[in-house]
Amino acid sequence: MSAGNTPPADMNSAPVDARTRPRVLVTRRIFPDLLEALRRDHEVQDNQADVPWSAEQLVERMAQVHGVLVDPARRVDEAMLAACPQLCVVSNVAVGYNNLDIPACTRAGIVATNTPDVLTDATADHAWALLLAAARRVVESDRWTRAGNWQGFALDAFLGAEVHGATLGILGMGRIGQAIARRAQGFAMRLIYHNRTPLAADAAQAGGALWVDKAELLRSADFLVLLVPYSPATHHAIGAAELAQMKPSAVLVNIARGGVVDDAALVAALRSGRPGAAALDVMENEPHFHPGLLELENVVLTPHIGSATHTARRGMVSLAMRNLEAVLRGQRPQALLNPEVWDRRRRYEGS
Ligand code: DGY
Repeated sequence: MSAGNTPPADMNSAPVDARTRPRVLVTRRIFPDLLEALRRDHEVQDNQADVPWSAEQLVERMAQVHGVLVDPARRVDEAMLAACPQLCVVSNVAVGYNNLDIPACTRAGIVATNTPDVLTDATADHAWALLLAAARRVVESDRWTRAGNWQGFALDAFLGAEVHGATLGILGMGRIGQAIARRAQGFAMRLIYHNRTPLAADAAQAGGALWVDKAELLRSADFLVLLVPYSPATHHAIGAAELAQMKPSAVLVNIARGGVVDDAALVAALRSGRPGAAALDVMENEPHFHPGLLELENVVLTPHIGSATHTARRGMVSLAMRNLEAVLRGQRPQALLNPEVWDRRRRYEGS
């Protein structure tokens, strides 16, 4: 059984007494068999209808439970937590956790967790899908072909950018960046990256990547993939000034978070021809993103599906469930975001 399919509950242990079951909220539809596994030891309020709850409806429900499995589109802030006196654990079904106010969780004694690793390869694969689609104009030429425009072979039809041998730049070289870099070796690419702190030599060497400063990254990359976590420090890390430093032929790939790129500036930059194309899996204010993006042929858009493989998404839900269950049983979870809270955490009285 692969890690992605690991059952969340310890199926061999005796079920928890129904009278002492912790109450758990699941904010979005999840895989039915995993939901059933969660029900075994918990009183679960689900949202299998996938109806978006208002912030008020969410707080009303969260106030009743000991644990919540929350999707990354949901902001969980201090005011919400203040209304949830029994809440012990917020388990994010995502590796990115900019939706959670971690210091507020810590102040309230609430454990916060996320889902690293299980989506690394799926997300790296999708970054490559976007990069190649933008470089080779796959979506644009697909649209054109479906529209009945094709009259026959032409030597100059849909000329794109050469990927093989080009320079790949990565802003935010963490686990997913390194997985993307490993794949780049098959394309014989030159690899550069920028992090505030350069990686230890062995990690960088895995992909043969060279640390450069941000200006050099922007100037030299033929393909620039963004992977920095979103925070006030990375808000609009790529804006008009940064876009103006990129090569006119460059392709920008955002698989990090909306808000890392100033999308209005990107629309203007793409209209002016620098960079040459973009591929975005995440946008500012998604799903109500900048309408200018829809007017541009040199943009590939996907709806935040970087980790959307069966294996990765099941792996994320399973890990989020294991994190939540561990905390409610009094055990340290696999992916703890605020370890400083552990010794003084709020405890589920049945654990
Ligand atoms: C994550 O895990 O942060 C992704 O963006 C959600 O798939």
